Amino acid sequence: MSKQHFLTLLDFSPEELDALIDRAIALKAAHRAGKPSPQFPGSVMAMIFAKSSTRTRVSFEAGMAQMGGHAMFLSPGDTQLGRGEPIEDSARVISSMVDIVMIRTFGHDIVERFAENSSVPVINALTDDYHPCQLLADMQTYREHRGAIRGKTVCWLGDGNNMCHSYINAARQFDFHLRIACPEGFEPDAQLLRDNSDRVALYHDAGSAVDGASLLVTDVWASMGQEEEQARRAAAMAPFQLNAALLAAAAPDALYLHCLPAHRGEEISAELMDAGDTVIWEEAENRLHAQKALVEKLLEGAQGQPQSTK
Ligand code: CP
Ligand code: NVA
Repeated sequence: MSKQHFLTLLDFSPEELDALIDRAIALKAAHRAGKPSPQFPGSVMAMIFAKSSTRTRVSFEAGMAQMGGHAMFLSPGDTQLGRGEPIEDSARVISSMVDIVMIRTFGHDIVERFAENSSVPVINALTDDYHPCQLLADMQTYREHRGAIRGKTVCWLGDGNNMCHSYINAARQFDFHLRIACPEGFEPDAQLLRDNSDRVALYHDAGSAVDGASLLVTDVWASMGQEEEQARRAAAMAPFQLNAALLAAAAPDALYLHCLPAHRGEEISAELMDAGDTVIWEEAENRLHAQKALVEKLLEGAQGQPQSTK
């Protein structure tokens, strides 16, 4: 059996993803009851961060410690990655010394090339194209509060970015309908849209897109690496702000999510961010539980393999 990576949601079957969410919910209950996490003593995770992070770093690092292992923070500025050592060479060397690798970087091809040359499982912790770990936490949060998402309608608001792409993959893997409301010029990848045209629809009007939806989701208008485009993006995306008026047009029991960090008054209103009943903070906490379930699955899978093929 070849080693398993988690570069997009398509790397796992729908059944595996459902089981992972079940496991994340169980690990959360155990953690809250003060029970120990599954133990992988001595396991080491290399965490490669070419972009900033709060939630991703804290959740992986805390999770590894809770599982009896260790997480090592590596940034291009402090490693030879920043001085031009090929990603393929770095993958061979780093993976020969650790048990699992997590990468946050720019081009999605970088995690793919790393994974091709890695002898241990690799997790995509955000690229310009996808953010699958966030979707595990989001799907867990919806399940905990509203049950199965299968057959429901989800509405993505704003930029057709990496999170939007992962929602397109989630629509396929978790079997829901996705409406994407974005301004012209900020649509998600055209091929990804075509490949999922049976369940994903594009709107340029937020009001029609949210009508009756069970889940509304948004994200920053300028992702990491797009800071210089902030003003142009804010002007184009202003009509797509997630706010109380849009929420009122959704289903009566609609939830709303934001992966964070958020900009109050831009992609989401301060009123919704600071609402007493928002599940956004729990969504962030669920990164810890969902990723512990993910790391457990990948480490268990890798343990069953001989060293030469691990
Ligand atoms: N949502 C998320 O990935 O947050 P960080 O950028 O803080 O890791
Ligand atoms: N789309 C955002 C997500 C941050 C977690 C970014 O890539 O910066």
